[in-house]
Amino acid sequence: MKDTGQIFEHGSLPEAKFYNGKPFPLLVTPPTSSPELWTSSEAVIDYLKQNREHIMNLLRSHAVLHFRDFAAQVSTPETFAKIVEESLGLPNFPYELGNAVRTAIVGDRVFTANESPPEKPIPFHHELAQTPKYPAKLLFYCDRPADTGGETPVLLSRAVYDDLRKEHPEFLQKLEQHGVKYSRVMTPHDRPHSAIGRGWRATFRVQTRQEAEDVLSTRGYGFEWLEEGEESPLRETSPTLQAVVEAENGKCFFNQIAAVWGGWRDEFNKPEDCVMAGDGSALDPNSLDSLVGIMNRHRVAVPWKRGDFTFIDNMQAQHSRATFTGRRRVLASLVAAQSS
Ligand code: FE2
Repeated sequence: MKDTGQIFEHGSLPEAKFYNGKPFPLLVTPPTSSPELWTSSEAVIDYLKQNREHIMNLLRSHAVLHFRDFAAQVSTPETFAKIVEESLGLPNFPYELGNAVRTAIVGDRVFTANESPPEKPIPFHHELAQTPKYPAKLLFYCDRPADTGGETPVLLSRAVYDDLRKEHPEFLQKLEQHGVKYSRVMTPHDRPHSAIGRGWRATFRVQTRQEAEDVLSTRGYGFEWLEEGEESPLRETSPTLQAVVEAENGKCFFNQIAAVWGGWRDEFNKPEDCVMAGDGSALDPNSLDSLVGIMNRHRVAVPWKRGDFTFIDNMQAQHSRATFTGRRRVLASLVAAQSS
């Protein structure tokens, strides 16, 4: 049997935080005994495949794994797609219901990360937690770092739950009891200047109002057309969704509330109209402001290096995007829950 301590090295990541003595995120680098892993993409794809189960155990335990120095100078988006598909054997989560503008890069597996403007930070969120169907995991790959900034900060959602329980117990209790609802206005076409600018045609992969209504009804969403005709903006309202989940290692504050409060603002949307408790009542603005502070307390931002990739348990950890300058290119891949 292999000595698991030798499968990877886990040098210290200066930015990491520690929870119950475990680093978050966990840095994963090649073992010194396998120098080919620095230079050969094929060797990396094989090696990660051989150690798939070990990687999944590390992910469960640490919630976020940051891979560095795996053929970093020669890896490509295609290498990343192979790591996701062949090495890790992860089932694809088709990107349908999100509100971010993205472009497919490798088949239907690898996309550009949210293409919203570099000067606007993307707030913390669990991927697609504002919808009833969200990915279980996700990965990001750095094809080209930014000149400055552009990190993908992460946080451990269990820590947010624990702090809210101490500091805002009523706010947390209301959300645990009633859940949460999200509402937003979408235009027919994409508006790339807005972080929530994906149009309803692209979001639902439809052309007509009737087709959009069919999708929304099937998924249990409420809707309202704001104008006559096929070019009308649409207000959709989600069904009531959970705001807290029981994940590996404890309860997590699993929702999009802080992201809505901090970021769902454009010419059609205001945060206070976009998020509410499941019973339709407003959420306390002071608690919402504190929530953003709590999240920043647990924020960990690891600067990207070319060829880095990060593997995130979407139930346990939230991610965001820092502002940046330069031609940053970070790609994403979303993973469906394993069918059992
Ligand atoms: Fe995201």
